[in-house]
Amino acid sequence: MSGTKTARVVVVGGGQAGFSVASTLRGAGYEGPVTVFADERHLPYERPPLSKKAHTDSLRVELVPESFYKERDIELRLGEDVVAIDTAAYAVVTGTGTRVSYDHLVLATGARNRPLPVPGTELTGVHALRSLDDALAIGRALTTARDVVVVGGGFIGLELAQVARAHGARVTVVELADRLLSRAVSPQLQERLRERHERGGVRILTGTAVQSIEGTDHVRQVVTDRGALPADLVVYGIGAAPRDELARDAGLAVEDGVIVDEQLRSITDPRISAVGDCARHPHPHADGLVRLESVQNATDQGALVGRRIAGSPSPYESLPWFWSDQGDIKLQIAGLRANTDDVRLALGDSPERLAAYAFRDDRLVAVETLNWPAEHLAARRVLERSQPVCAADLAGSTLGALVRARRAAEVRA
Ligand code: NAI
Repeated sequence: MSGTKTARVVVVGGGQAGFSVASTLRGAGYEGPVTVFADERHLPYERPPLSKKAHTDSLRVELVPESFYKERDIELRLGEDVVAIDTAAYAVVTGTGTRVSYDHLVLATGARNRPLPVPGTELTGVHALRSLDDALAIGRALTTARDVVVVGGGFIGLELAQVARAHGARVTVVELADRLLSRAVSPQLQERLRERHERGGVRILTGTAVQSIEGTDHVRQVVTDRGALPADLVVYGIGAAPRDELARDAGLAVEDGVIVDEQLRSITDPRISAVGDCARHPHPHADGLVRLESVQNATDQGALVGRRIAGSPSPYESLPWFWSDQGDIKLQIAGLRANTDDVRLALGDSPERLAAYAFRDDRLVAVETLNWPAEHLAARRVLERSQPVCAADLAGSTLGALVRARRAAEVRA
């Protein structure tokens, strides 16, 4: 491998994780060549705003302007996809057959939406949401839509349901599982979240399977196992799968994501790292390996690999946290909850504020909040520092109050 300061870094993926690798390298003074391949034609952009508002014409979501890359000598190859990795020759191959050699390769390929496996998804008026172009198309459709059916009661579905309500549309969410957000939040918090959506006029059908989407050219109805729903706009968000096929085809260990070690290096080939949605990694807050789909994870993992290549290695230990704005409902999560955890709900000082504390072996491991940012921040502080909190500590108290009391005790001591 060339000297650490001059080795060529190739990043595959121009999302939040890929951007974080490249910008961190330069921020850390790395002087070698850095190339980022991005298959979309847009400058790298942030995805969180896409599902939180309806966008009709322009949308400024670029992470940084084009000049940022020029000034830092980051070669950004937009609209170019990498189709193969030649691990023996340390090179990637692009869709046009160009070979680009690397000393370090970072896979930041993200995830793709799972397709909805029913007839009719090709009709106009039926959309998935992942890219900026998808968001603009949905935004335009919302200006005239009256009956919106959202398939999937996860992050995309619930954020989009509120956007459609704000446009005055009638909205039905069709969720296959028996509850909303089963991947991300506890049953206890989900119940309260569901009540708030229903109070806001969103109709929610759980335990319901979509069988087909019907119409002539444009969508007219969604047929479910509980009857047909009129629809002039359908948006589906039924989960994502990691884009790990490049790694698999190259013979790297892959299992629902590229398997990496605590420094995010492929366990098969240490010259290759994987970061963000496509990586499955060890984490001190998890039993076994996890794959996290979040901006925090993409940003922090990209930064960690950037710093390592620039000469400052460290293990990945960042506290996982998530947020979702669903109309005026602000959901925030800190830490990682397991299904076996003991979850306790607590009301804040106003009826809109709610927290769910998850305990494992009587130790706080995760906190979910609704409309209570201060409690979320207190949770991050406590969990980041691994300060033990047990259920008795929170009986009749909040984390915020506990943090203040502990700080006051430290000052007195
Ligand atoms: P998700 O995993 O959050 O939710 C998918 C939902 O679809 C689940 O509730 C699941 O039970 C349901 N489902 C699965 N198959 C179904 C079917 N055939 N019919 C009806 N429902 C079905 O995934 P989502 O919402 O699609 O989001 C995709 C990606 O985008 C994820 O990586 C997510 O983390 C990310 N995202 C994150 C946001 C945030 O953090 N605020 C906002 C929007 C997207």
